[in-house]
Amino acid sequence: MLKSNKKTETEKLNAEIERLKKELKKRKKYGLVWEEKPEEVVEMCKEKLPVLKEVKNKEIITDKDKPVNLLIEGDNYHALSVLNYTHAKKVDVIYIDPPYNTGNKDFIFNDRYVDREDAYRHSKWLAFMEKRLKLAKNLLKDSGVIFISIDDNEVAQLKLLMDDKNKGLFGENNFVQNFMWLHGKGKKDSWSRTLQQYILCYARNKNKLKPWSILSYANYEFSNPDNDRRGPWFSGSVSFSETRSNKEHPNYFEIKSPSGITWMRQWQRTKEEMMELLKKKKMFFGLPPKYDAVPRIKIFPEDIDEQIPPNIIDGVESTREAQKKLEEMFGKKVFDYPKPVSLMKHLIKLSSDKDAIILDFMAGTGTTGHAVLELNKEDGGNRRFILCTNNEDNNGNGYKIAEDICYPRIKKVIKGYKNLKGEKVEGLGGNLKYFKTAFVDYDEPTDKNKIKLTKQATEMLCVKEGTFEKVLDRKDFKIFKNANHYTGIIFDQAAIPAFKKAIKDIKGKFSVYVFSLGDEAFDDEFKDIKQKIQLSPIPEAILRVYRRIFK
Ligand SMILES: C[S@@+](CC[C@H](N)C(=O)[O-])C[C@H]1O[C@@H](n2cnc3c(N)ncnc32)[C@H](O)[C@@H]1O
Repeated sequence: MLKSNKKTETEKLNAEIERLKKELKKRKKYGLVWEEKPEEVVEMCKEKLPVLKEVKNKEIITDKDKPVNLLIEGDNYHALSVLNYTHAKKVDVIYIDPPYNTGNKDFIFNDRYVDREDAYRHSKWLAFMEKRLKLAKNLLKDSGVIFISIDDNEVAQLKLLMDDKNKGLFGENNFVQNFMWLHGKGKKDSWSRTLQQYILCYARNKNKLKPWSILSYANYEFSNPDNDRRGPWFSGSVSFSETRSNKEHPNYFEIKSPSGITWMRQWQRTKEEMMELLKKKKMFFGLPPKYDAVPRIKIFPEDIDEQIPPNIIDGVESTREAQKKLEEMFGKKVFDYPKPVSLMKHLIKLSSDKDAIILDFMAGTGTTGHAVLELNKEDGGNRRFILCTNNEDNNGNGYKIAEDICYPRIKKVIKGYKNLKGEKVEGLGGNLKYFKTAFVDYDEPTDKNKIKLTKQATEMLCVKEGTFEKVLDRKDFKIFKNANHYTGIIFDQAAIPAFKKAIKDIKGKFSVYVFSLGDEAFDDEFKDIKQKIQLSPIPEAILRVYRRIFK
């Protein structure tokens, strides 16, 4: 009796060991682990759904036929959730400059600064970033890329996080580059001076990513103003301006043009490389006999492969210069470490074409938007930007980042302004709409809640369609348009005949959203105008996205 009892005990133990072995096998063996920290802005979405509300008096329109840029004020978790419905797979480039988590009042989690002594410092940052990066990934086109600025505080954590495909992030295979941006004189300690900040770059799908060597030159037109025997070419910059040249740099030396004009400055190539270019007659000094233009490099079609961009970004402005320029715009210091416009322009030009949609969901002072407006002005592009930022007083100086800095900055760039010296700076033109995130109570999928959500979804649908011009505004249906197409929103099934009558004489395509308690889009009732319209039931189309995110 005793014996058999003992055996049972051993059996039980063995079974327990086997169970534990299996359990261990299931556990993660390699990768990043962190303490899950619930975040209030995420938890609230279990009972309230985010939508967008426009701040109408902040609209800026200088050219009605051009696309509209967006500024969304609110927590970016909410903004990204909305964009998951309106912009899934539509974005070409995402740039973000998140809090670096320095422990020095730069990162707020659940309304509190995370300081250096916080035992969960890295966990909170990772939980915060993971949630947003996963939402952001859904917005990228298959050919899209994301750039993330970061420094030594979190670069290692961020790389491992981004590499984790199992967690729904980008995956090791989609890693493109870790750029080193030489951002200034550098922070020094007793051992060394740090000259770079990192910019991690991942593709949504690296197999679909266009080669940048070609992309960055695709917009250039080859020509042959000096009748070069080798055929058409285009020119690229090889020098820093005189004021930006560093006299201590080994690449600071003199270059002489064929007519004897000398150029003393810092070059983007070594002396040897420049001499080689001269020897091969691949430098352009302007046309003979003067040869008096700033030397540029001649690039022939067969040279393009050699133009693959390096991962060290050295030729753009420093943090200090960026800060100074922002100060000049506002007449005072409003923000501590903005990124330079030239850095943003470099990244955007490198990775996308002239029609790209560019998103920055940690927009801060709006540098990314400023860069897009400048690029469009320079090359006649049609790029669009979406900026998201909260409205914190980042630097404790009383300026709220969205209302007092980002929006006024974009407005100045579009409309023009007077700088510190009292000189007028021409506006670049452009359109902007300002939205805030808002919420609709939605604790249960009741009919009442569905009706409420539909009523509050108008702006979100207009953002999705890019149609902001009102054509008809009735209680039971509304119609909006842009230069290309129309959007119809029908709040009551009974209004379908009236809606059809209203659009009968309008030429053009319609996206039509019809309120439906279920998943039905009333195809039968639109059968006769099938060619003209694309139907979606709301709020189901929105709820489908939100169920996936907030499940
Ligand atoms: C380092 S700054 C970005 C600066 C920007 N690159 C520039 O050139 O001005 C980060 C910005 O992200 C914003 N931010 C931080 N957490 C956010 C959140 N959860 N939602 C929206 N914005 C947030 C901060 O208010 C801050 O302005």
